[in-house]
Amino acid sequence: MKKDFLNLGKQPIANSFLSSISKKSLKSEYFYNLIISFNTKNFLVSVKKPVNPKIQYTNKYAHRASESQTMRKAFRSAAIKLYKRFKPKNIMEIGSNDGVFLKNFARQKVIGVEPCRNLAEITKKKFTTYPNFWNKVLSKKILKKHSEVDLIFSANTISHIPNLKETFEAIFNVMSDKGVLVIEDPSLSSVIKINSYDQFYDEHVYVFSTLAVENIVKKYKLRLFDVQKINTHGGSLRYYICKNNSKYKKTKRLVSILNEEKKTGLDNFNTFKKFAGRVKNSKKKLVSLLKKIKKNNNKIISYGATYKSTTVFNYCKIDTRYFHYVTDTTYNKQGKFTPGTHIPIISPEIGFNDSVDYAFLGAWNFKREILNKEKKFIKRGGKFITHVPEVKILSK
Ligand code: TMP
Repeated sequence: MKKDFLNLGKQPIANSFLSSISKKSLKSEYFYNLIISFNTKNFLVSVKKPVNPKIQYTNKYAHRASESQTMRKAFRSAAIKLYKRFKPKNIMEIGSNDGVFLKNFARQKVIGVEPCRNLAEITKKKFTTYPNFWNKVLSKKILKKHSEVDLIFSANTISHIPNLKETFEAIFNVMSDKGVLVIEDPSLSSVIKINSYDQFYDEHVYVFSTLAVENIVKKYKLRLFDVQKINTHGGSLRYYICKNNSKYKKTKRLVSILNEEKKTGLDNFNTFKKFAGRVKNSKKKLVSLLKKIKKNNNKIISYGATYKSTTVFNYCKIDTRYFHYVTDTTYNKQGKFTPGTHIPIISPEIGFNDSVDYAFLGAWNFKREILNKEKKFIKRGGKFITHVPEVKILSK
């Protein structure tokens, strides 16, 4: 049974940065209700009514995984480790974005799948890329042209696809008998522990736990045999999945993480009810901190026009009353406005200047990279604000 535990209110599509805030474009802005549910049977946490993927993954998709040094390094390291461990003869990535993972392999070994055409165009120049949504039709098309795949990799994508049945059945189709599916997605355990409620937005149809993934893949003749904690995106998990009768044995760390998740209560609805209470508190604290800072005539901006910020800004009703603007390094976000709250986005070269007193860490998942980069700001007395794991001004 699905039970709702969190209502984050009316939300826009997290990546739908507006080119203009004319009456006409505001009128056509799409909103939906972001309600989060828990399935008491398989422990899956999901958005109650997912948005249609055709509205989300268009040829204007803004996120470029290569933008961040942290992600470039993380994908390079994943590519090297996975290649060493599984020695695949070929590799397919579902949701290959701008090729940040693929580019670590020889071009004849890899296949990319990427429904956002602007991104698929980038990797198509070098790698075989299918500019399509992942489904059984595509899996059959791929099998006609390529041999079965030994390593299927998918980072921050499977949790975005509402139809898990279609997804895993299509994966089973293309995977060789000794093949491995490796998926990475934000970890529910981290969300609960660090109160990162902004991991919930339209694209994150699911926030997986190991408990849930083990239950789900079982239904599709697949078996979870290993899992690993990774630091990306504010705490993620890398799941290793094989076909039922494959040689891989359940690892000790999988057993230990499953136990840890039970201890955290990820199989218990009460855990999520309590979490929802902490989320409400976080909102109150953040708004009151921003009000206090504003009252003292300080200039606040937000650092990183992230999708996660869309949830925070719209849930907390934070707009230009608080933030002068948002800075972001992504060229195609600059000159636009944040979804729902319509705060201008500008480049850090222009906006992250000496007039800024406080910067809200929208990209809190890159905290280390950002604090390292912005030593000058901190030295001159500039301050970062975060809401994760709790609302505070960062002292260092
Ligand atoms: P993400 O959390 O969805 O990956 O988005 C991070 C955003 O933050 C992305 O648009 C790039 C931006 N960003 C900056 O503007 N400056 C930075 O130093 C970093 C690391 C990210």
